[in-house]
Amino acid sequence: MKITDIKARKLLNSKTAWTIETTITLEDGSFGKASIPGGVSKGKTEVVSHPANLALQKIESLKDFLLNKDFRQTSLDSYLLTLDGTNDKSNLGGNVMLSISVSFAKAVAMARNIPLYKHIYQMHYKDVLDNKKLFDPKFERPEMMMLMLEGGLHGSNNASIQEFMAIVNTIDRGIEIYKKIQEELKRLKKSTNVGAEGAFSPDQYDNDQMLTLLAGFLKKETIALDIAASSFKETDKIPNYEELLNSYPITSIEDPYDEEDWPNWKIFAKKYNKKITVVTDDITTTNPTILKKAIKENIGNATIVKPNQIGTLTETLMATKLAQENGWEVIVSHRGSDTNDDFVADLAIGINADYVKFGSPARGERVAKYNRLMEIWNEIDSKEALKETSDKLEIMKNDKCMYIDPVTKKACGKKSNSIMKIQGENVPLCSTHYNVVYRLGLR
Ligand code: PGA
Ligand code: ZN
Repeated sequence: MKITDIKARKLLNSKTAWTIETTITLEDGSFGKASIPGGVSKGKTEVVSHPANLALQKIESLKDFLLNKDFRQTSLDSYLLTLDGTNDKSNLGGNVMLSISVSFAKAVAMARNIPLYKHIYQMHYKDVLDNKKLFDPKFERPEMMMLMLEGGLHGSNNASIQEFMAIVNTIDRGIEIYKKIQEELKRLKKSTNVGAEGAFSPDQYDNDQMLTLLAGFLKKETIALDIAASSFKETDKIPNYEELLNSYPITSIEDPYDEEDWPNWKIFAKKYNKKITVVTDDITTTNPTILKKAIKENIGNATIVKPNQIGTLTETLMATKLAQENGWEVIVSHRGSDTNDDFVADLAIGINADYVKFGSPARGERVAKYNRLMEIWNEIDSKEALKETSDKLEIMKNDKCMYIDPVTKKACGKKSNSIMKIQGENVPLCSTHYNVVYRLGLR
């Protein structure tokens, strides 16, 4: 597909900072728009993100290289990597490259007239699809690590742990827990103001108080924690994980140690890999090379996927595939300072993520992702329902005629060869009775 136009502008993110939004237009008029989130507790090995003004200049300078050339996703991304020529994307900027990479993917999905998640799915599972000609993908529903309480760099209290999440299967259940916590905080006359990702951050609360509060409103759900230990203040101590796991229904722990503390990660994973989900984020930063090492050294069993940590869609999919092929779970995630771009919802469905981590069911930039997730689910459900009905109709056609004789009150019972919708019900009929019903206008 040929790129015929690239436009970029400054955009405000949820942390009152400038980011960029890029729009790519293709030769057939299809277009895609992508804005780039930013981290609050960033990993050191994340690619460089240029300030918005510089990023806009970089995009301007890329036009000469990109306009009127034919690209696929992989050739575009590898061309960007070549043009950049650095390991940390400090030349072009990871935000510049990702905004081009993702807006191109969106434009191509539009050109192909398929939803973005399906386009991503077909790229991600290309080898499987090519070999097995599997054309009707079954999309899975990821579980949601929904944020309820926040501390650390995201909050404003005494809790050193950054994120206290409930693992839920439905958005409704997540909202219910969120509202219960809100009511309880109101009752206790505590602040219900929300933190960076939309969750409550009650004054003075420490880790234990946060966990007790959250655990109190769970039924069969469990807790996922993002410790974000790399962002700990000097005075913060690494929690006693054994004690935490014994006291609360915790089944997932992310970033339990500093990103440079590989020895402790290894010890932790050795102890807990079989019991809980051990999630790498700041230590792996969606980087295929680092993730490979992490898998080899066995420091976890799941990884966070954040496209802007690495800077192109192709590399994001590479990291994802690497995790999936090695039996690691995948969690597609938003960022601390985000925009209303809902790309990560399509990404999560397209790659069959095990979990999504989109923050609280509050704040526009978080809600945007959940809303897109529901839109995709509705679409998938109605397609499945449609397929089911057509399968059923096919079976019914070979059924017996259900016409009831008004005199004998007996069903005809001959082999049917057509279906008629009568008062909302699909009824199989033989050709004789099809005509009878039709003439009588019983429909
Ligand atoms: P971020 O981290 O603030 O760097 O985006 C959020 C997270 O790890 O969940
Ligand atoms: Zn994290």
